[in-house]
Amino acid sequence: MIKVVVFDAYGTLFDVYAIGALAERLYPSQGAAISMLWRDKQIEYTRLISLSDPHNPAGSRHYLPFWELTRLSLRYSLARLKLELTTENEDTLMGQYAHLTAFPENLAVLEVLKAKGLATAILSNGNPDMLDSAVTSAGMKSLLDHVISVDEIKQFKTSPSSYALVTQYFPVQNEDILFVSSNAWDALGATWHGFQTLWVNRQGLPHETLGPKPSFTGANLSSVLDVLNIQHGENG
Ligand code: LAC
Repeated sequence: MIKVVVFDAYGTLFDVYAIGALAERLYPSQGAAISMLWRDKQIEYTRLISLSDPHNPAGSRHYLPFWELTRLSLRYSLARLKLELTTENEDTLMGQYAHLTAFPENLAVLEVLKAKGLATAILSNGNPDMLDSAVTSAGMKSLLDHVISVDEIKQFKTSPSSYALVTQYFPVQNEDILFVSSNAWDALGATWHGFQTLWVNRQGLPHETLGPKPSFTGANLSSVLDVLNIQHGENG
C-alpha cells in the first residue's frame, strides 16, 4: 500500500526543456547538443564524486553542491562543442536553471495527492538553495511535505544512502514508497533500493537494458494517479 510519493526534481517535476530552448537562442543550431551534453556531464560528475569516496561517513570528500556541478558541466560542454561561453551567457543559462517551470499537469497531480491525504516529497541531487528557488517558482511549496536534498549526506543518487534518506523522513517500509522519476537510471536505482517505482517516460525513450524494469511506466506525471487508482480530476 503506497503511503508516500517521492519525486525526482529536474526533468520530473521541473521542466528543463526551457534550458535547451534558451541555449538554442544563445547558440543557434547547438541548443539540443548543449543541453544533452550538459545534462550528461552534470550527472557524470555526481557519479565520479560518489564513486570515488563511497564509504566516508562525512560524505564524499570530493563533494560539491549540484549547483556548482551544473556550472562546471556547462563550462565543459561549451568547451567541448568549441563554443564561447561569455560570463553573460553563463549567468543567463544558470539563471534559467534557478527558475524552472513545472510541467503543466504537475500542480493538479500534487493537489490531488494532498487532497487524498498522501505524503509527498522531493528527493533530489539538487542542493537546498537551488531546490528552494525551483519549488517556489513552480508554485509547489505548499504541496510538498519535505524537500529532501542529498546535500545532507554528500553522496549523490544512486548511492544507497541517498535513497535511504527518504525513510529517515517518513517511517514507512521501502515498498510503501512510490518513487517517481523521468530519469530511467534514477528509477532503476530506486527499484534496486526496494521502492516501488514509476518511470515517467516523457520522451518515449527505451527502457534501460540493465536491471529490473520499474514497477510502473507512464507518459507524464498524471500516471501517478493511475498507479494509485485515483480517478483523474478527482479532488477530495
Ligand atoms: C535530481 C536530478 C537527478 O533532481 O534530476 O536529482
